[in-house]
Amino acid sequence: MIRDIVRWGDPRLRDPSEDVPSGYEGLASLIADLFETCHAAPGVGLAAPQIGVNLKVAVIDLSIGAEPASQLVLVNPRILEAGGEQKEEEGCLSIPDVVARVGRPARVRAGFRDAEWREREIEGTGLLARALCHEIDHLSGMLYVDRLRGLKRELTWRKIERSRARWEGLKA
Ligand code: NI
Repeated sequence: MIRDIVRWGDPRLRDPSEDVPSGYEGLASLIADLFETCHAAPGVGLAAPQIGVNLKVAVIDLSIGAEPASQLVLVNPRILEAGGEQKEEEGCLSIPDVVARVGRPARVRAGFRDAEWREREIEGTGLLARALCHEIDHLSGMLYVDRLRGLKRELTWRKIERSRARWEGLKA
């Protein structure tokens, strides 16, 4: 089911998410909803708090639905190792119409459980490394704007405030 995406300003984006307990019955439908909502948006990743569920689950699909094999389910993920640097443009489905160049590690290794509760690890560079960092940040209530510094950060917040006025106007 396609769910409403929670937008910036909603406290659920800032609440830290809880670990998914073993045997949690809602897991399969939560994962299905995340993929459906992410593909419909369209976006390359979505975290559970973005559909109002504060549990540590996120999905990444760099193919945006084109290749089933590239669908990545992250349950209770954590960054195990990060190295190098990259700085590329990032956006977020919860912050429409705004992008900014964000500094991220160039290489990331993450540990997580998959949809079948198997313990897994993944290593990513480039866009995958950024997506892993971005989605895992969501699970601790952190947004990409929090990773910006100085003037860049202030200007981006101002853009977000302007954009928010627009999207709230549309909703009314
Ligand atoms: Ni996001």
